[in-house]
Amino acid sequence: MSQFDILHTVENNFAKSNPNYLKSMFGTTDVMPLWIADMDFEIAKPIQEALQKLVTRNIYAYEFNTGDVFKAISDWNYKRHQLQLNPKSFVQVSGVLTGIGVLIRDLSEKGDGIMVQTPVYHQFFKVIESAGRKVVSNKLKVVDGYYQMDFEDMERKLKTLNIKVILLCNPHNPVGRVWTKEELQKLVAIANTYNVTIISDEIHSDIVYSKSQFNSIASLENSENHIAVIGSPAKTFGMQSISNGYLYIQNEKIHKQVKSTVGSLYLDHGSIHSANATIAAYTKGEEWLNDLLAYLEKTINWITDFVEREIPQIILYKPEGTYQIWLDFSKLNLSDDALKHLVVNQAKLALTPGDWFEGSHTQFMRLNFASPLEKIQQAFYQLKKAVDDGVDCSFNEGEQANNCCSC
Ligand SMILES: Cc1ncc(COP(=O)(O)O)c(C=O)c1O
Repeated sequence: MSQFDILHTVENNFAKSNPNYLKSMFGTTDVMPLWIADMDFEIAKPIQEALQKLVTRNIYAYEFNTGDVFKAISDWNYKRHQLQLNPKSFVQVSGVLTGIGVLIRDLSEKGDGIMVQTPVYHQFFKVIESAGRKVVSNKLKVVDGYYQMDFEDMERKLKTLNIKVILLCNPHNPVGRVWTKEELQKLVAIANTYNVTIISDEIHSDIVYSKSQFNSIASLENSENHIAVIGSPAKTFGMQSISNGYLYIQNEKIHKQVKSTVGSLYLDHGSIHSANATIAAYTKGEEWLNDLLAYLEKTINWITDFVEREIPQIILYKPEGTYQIWLDFSKLNLSDDALKHLVVNQAKLALTPGDWFEGSHTQFMRLNFASPLEKIQQAFYQLKKAVDDGVDCSFNEGEQANNCCSC
């Protein structure tokens, strides 16, 4: 039995199962929560020990450890990704979205366009719009069942619209693509031509499966003047509620400006818990991560086989990275409301609605599979039963649901 097979039941107020959130988003609390992108697993032992050491002291005097954090991040990236990072180019921030918010303000003016590859992590829209910038959608295209960037559309928009930044998600949430070196090279060449900066959110960089290879935008030639990278151990090590984020900016002028903004807002302090947990994760967490990746890959393979065999009406985009799976339900031919009813009230699953990631994706949902396999299997059994049964009689818009049962 694997450590990841254990379903932990600890007292909590986790967002994913918070009754108020579930009620307001899904209209019920009677659902298995597989929506928010965090893990059900216990964190790695070395991180537990690092945190316990701090907690048992019972003294919380000011304490900073940023230098050791940057060294741990650099060493990790060299070991895992053969990426040589300059410790002088880091800036500590309190979270990834905070970092993006600061970068957007420093790299563009109010009213400027920020390009994103949609469907994409929904908080990107909020972080752009709340800064008074405009979201410019560069829709991903599906070619032979595989998501790809639309470089023609990208160039057309960069030529004609006032765009200052491309906000990249690599690996991509929710479609699970890990962008190849060739794709990133093309992107950097375009950014150089149109003089825009790429902010690369690489929070999912270490959740990459065996057939894919993660390339940081920072590893590409001629990228240094046009990129800012954001990372964090949050997704990799299941530290969503305690981790910081970090920025990596090679361009000295931009680095100086961003460091000064972050410093002036006192966002670079971090907590010692985050710092020591990060150091423990990056210096002693590799074995745990390798086991986690093997476990998640086994889960993906189980899901893929099951869906292809048992619920072929659902199109599944097998993720190359992230622990999210992007599901297309459009072949069920249900109205949007009927689909929601089927998934929420019949299958009793709380999945992230696709239109959070781009308005037209009402027939898509994202499922987080970072849970014990048995729980994920149960979720798919429930989904299959609901699909096989068809939309039931408690759904009021019977005429709209094409496969409503005849009762
Ligand atoms: C692509 C991406 N960026 C950022 C975040 C959130 O990062 P943080 O909580 O550090 O702001 C998430 C969380 O799901 C994410 O998927």
